[in-house]
Amino acid sequence: MKATSWTRKGFLAIFLFLTVLASIFVLRHIEVKRLHYQPQVNATIIMPRVSPHHIVNRSFCTFQPLSPQDALEERLILDSIAWPATPVLPSPISLEQTTDPAHSTFTILPGRKGGQWHVGDQLEVMIQTFDFQGRPKKSGGDFILATLQSRKLEAGVAGQLVDHQNGSYSAVFSLLWEGDAQVEVTLVHPSEAVTVLDRLNREQPDRIYFKSLYRSGSVSETTICNVCLRPTQQPVCNYTDLHVGEPWFCYKPKKLSCDTRINHFKGGFKQNLKVKEEKLFQSGVNMKVSIQATGSSIATVLSKKEGQLKLKTSSGTSVPSGYYYQGVWWTLGGTTISQFNRSAITQCLKGKVVHMYGDSTIRQWFEFLNAALPGLKEFDLHSRRQVGPFMSLDYENNILVTYRCHGPPIRFGLIPTRELRYIANEIDDLIGGPNTVVVVGIWSHLGTYPIEIYIRRLQSIRRAVVQLLDRAPGTLVIIRTANVKALTLYETITNSDWYSLQRDKVLRAMFKGLKVHLIDAWEMTLAHHLPHNLHPLPPIIKNMIDHLLSYICPHKGG
Ligand SMILES: *[C@@H]1O[C@H](CO)[C@@H](O)[C@H](O)[C@H]1NC(C)=O
Ligand SMILES: *[C@@H]1O[C@H](CO)[C@@H](O)[C@H](O)[C@H]1NC(C)=O
Ligand SMILES: *[C@@H]1O[C@H](CO)[C@@H](O)[C@H](O)[C@H]1NC(C)=O
Ligand SMILES: *[C@@H]1O[C@H](CO)[C@@H](O)[C@H](O)[C@H]1NC(C)=O
Ligand SMILES: *[C@@H]1O[C@H](CO)[C@@H](O)[C@H](O)[C@H]1NC(C)=O
Repeated sequence: MKATSWTRKGFLAIFLFLTVLASIFVLRHIEVKRLHYQPQVNATIIMPRVSPHHIVNRSFCTFQPLSPQDALEERLILDSIAWPATPVLPSPISLEQTTDPAHSTFTILPGRKGGQWHVGDQLEVMIQTFDFQGRPKKSGGDFILATLQSRKLEAGVAGQLVDHQNGSYSAVFSLLWEGDAQVEVTLVHPSEAVTVLDRLNREQPDRIYFKSLYRSGSVSETTICNVCLRPTQQPVCNYTDLHVGEPWFCYKPKKLSCDTRINHFKGGFKQNLKVKEEKLFQSGVNMKVSIQATGSSIATVLSKKEGQLKLKTSSGTSVPSGYYYQGVWWTLGGTTISQFNRSAITQCLKGKVVHMYGDSTIRQWFEFLNAALPGLKEFDLHSRRQVGPFMSLDYENNILVTYRCHGPPIRFGLIPTRELRYIANEIDDLIGGPNTVVVVGIWSHLGTYPIEIYIRRLQSIRRAVVQLLDRAPGTLVIIRTANVKALTLYETITNSDWYSLQRDKVLRAMFKGLKVHLIDAWEMTLAHHLPHNLHPLPPIIKNMIDHLLSYICPHKGG
């Protein structure tokens, strides 16, 4: 009797337990469904292949587990950005069989109308690469950029590159202005250099390293920190953010505890190229070097004839996203950009709160507004010049503009640990609404890591943005993409345009279909005649700010 009663009680307990478990599962499932933005991907085009470029070095990069949706998205994104395989070179490297921009050439194709172009047509250029011995290259994977320029008209547009994977490439341009258009083709990196850059992120994701100072009483110690921290005998402090799941680790100080960490700063850079590999990264030889035309590099574009401009792709995004004409950036995606003078900026921002989050390229926008608006005064928060946080106020017009840098990895000077904040956590603290503008720009400090780190960072930011737009649909969210920059060997190893390009594709894919606006800094810096610069020069910033303000105040500028 007793035994049966116990069995019955046991069954009841198990039944209750299972019911609770099932409801937890259902609740969690609903929550997951609600929280996770469904990526707009066509599942029928999944290629079930794992590119060797996607091997993360698990020996010292640890990741939080992803939800099934996020894991699927990660795989789709990795597949979509897979770079053509490039031949492995014998060591030590000789340049002989690598791409030589001086031997390589491009040719403007005559097109359907036999060398006559009208506004609205496309211009196609064929690029053939050769090695240093003058032999045609047979494989693809070179990183090439192409633009169409007119100095006289201060016009420019970026070309779309197609890698035929046989040593030839096409660049396709939309013809958007009447007059001369000069084709410029640049070899950014030979494919052999891309191989090295890819390997560095797998083998040395810690080549930029960070430090933290620990202090308690009279004892202080400094240790090394990173996202990917090499395992040693030394114990580790785990600063993984419990809310957003972003990983961060420091070696534990010998005498102090993990919670005595008081700041964060860039430690330095360890360059560890193999013998002679630096030959692949020589300015003036094979890094950001022009490729010359066979025949003319200039096309004369006649006025628009018949037909419509066909620039929209089926997905609704424009290719290209815009172009310069008379020094002004015009978009093709449906947003009309107005020019804002000082008083128009003030009128536009009246009653608004603008929160800017990101790296130094977002800080430039904060600095621009501060300098442009006479009524906007920076409140002295006693922050470090490079680091922030910053806050500017215009009492009369009720304008508040803030800037805060993104969380680690960040290569800024000295940041108190209390000021290390992840963008997703900051966005989670906002109420939002029609008077709130959120600006996000995060790319240049994440180039040296496996791209999965960037994907996860954006997944957490996107989750926060989706929730913000759910609770306050009137909030305006603007994302700044990566930009091209000047490359030296050091700048390349620590954040080549190739790393930026790959991350930029990820960023665009992940925010596609969301109610957020992109400012295409990539094309805006590429299409401009000014030299590439990590911090784009003032005329480009002015165009970016006009773009930003045109989203905030459509059709209100001058
Ligand atoms: C998905 O891709 C397939 C094959 O390319 C195509 O037939 C189908 O129409 C696509 N579906 C959507 C919803 O885009
Ligand atoms: C490379 O491929 C493209 C596109 O298929 C083709 O037009 C071109 O002729 C090929 N070039 C060589 C050298 O085979
Ligand atoms: C991981 O990093 C170690 C140390 O740099 C390196 O020896 C190893 O080859 C890397 N593994 C992969 C899969 O790249
Ligand atoms: C660090 O902490 C996070 C959160 O508690 C945990 O999920 C992760 O496994 C830890 N990582 C390591 C390497 O201990
Ligand atoms: C600024 O632009 C506005 C139009 O938005 C115009 O009415 C005004 O005259 C301009 N002010 C100056 C000083 O140019």
